[in-house]
Amino acid sequence: MATLLRIDASAQLEDRSLTRKLTGLFAEHFLKGAPGTEVIVRDVGHSPVPPIDHRFIHAAFTSPEDRDPWMNERLHLSDQLIEEVEKADVIVLGVPMYNYGMPAALKSWVDHVARIGRTFSFDLSRGDYPIEPTLSGKNLVVLSSRGEFGFQPGGVRSHLNALDPAIAACAHYFGAEADDIQTVAIEYQEFKDARHQRSVALAEKSTREIALQLASPGVAA
Ligand SMILES: Cc1cc2nc3c(=O)[nH]c(=O)nc-3n(C[C@H](O)[C@H](O)[C@H](O)COP(=O)(O)O)c2cc1C
Repeated sequence: MATLLRIDASAQLEDRSLTRKLTGLFAEHFLKGAPGTEVIVRDVGHSPVPPIDHRFIHAAFTSPEDRDPWMNERLHLSDQLIEEVEKADVIVLGVPMYNYGMPAALKSWVDHVARIGRTFSFDLSRGDYPIEPTLSGKNLVVLSSRGEFGFQPGGVRSHLNALDPAIAACAHYFGAEADDIQTVAIEYQEFKDARHQRSVALAEKSTREIALQLASPGVAA
């Protein structure tokens, strides 16, 4: 049985959020292709993960056997979020572009999941690349929406895109390969014109296809 981790980062309510519509569509079609799937929903848009602070960092960088009780308490949410990632075969992120990057709520989720001794190890004997990820073999799908357009490589606003590169840089903490991330992005939301309508239709089609393909590998969508 597969496990799908659905993460929603839009601050908007269900009926006003394009990314929530895409993650809903993705989960619906994934379940069609793999009916027994366990779906874990983590809604950081509506129930934000708090930013990490000095207590979190102190606790995370203290080895487990030396931790005081408050440290384990401070790491409890991080433990839960990591367990959700560990269980997942497929992670689908619903990510609006906010001020050219990811919503702060999602960045806090990343900061809680990227944890020494849990999702990566750090060893200077590895030379200039001391970080080694712990998890592997997961599929990461990014379902995004943007008010403007042209953020894809080679696009007119590609130089402003601080969202997709940031997710790719951190993908190894979630057990995914940066090169294998499947990204679908609605554009032109702020223009509300025919280009936007086309973009929505195309994104919905891609979302359905990716969901069915990941749910039943080898079966044409
Ligand atoms: C706070 C905020 C910041 C935004 N910043 C950008 C931006 O930098 N670039 C852009 O193209 N669109 C931007 N937008 C538009 C959103 O990306 C767009 O409305 C998207 O559909 C939001 O996702 P959602 O519909 O799932 O909430 C912003 C919207 C909000 C609310």
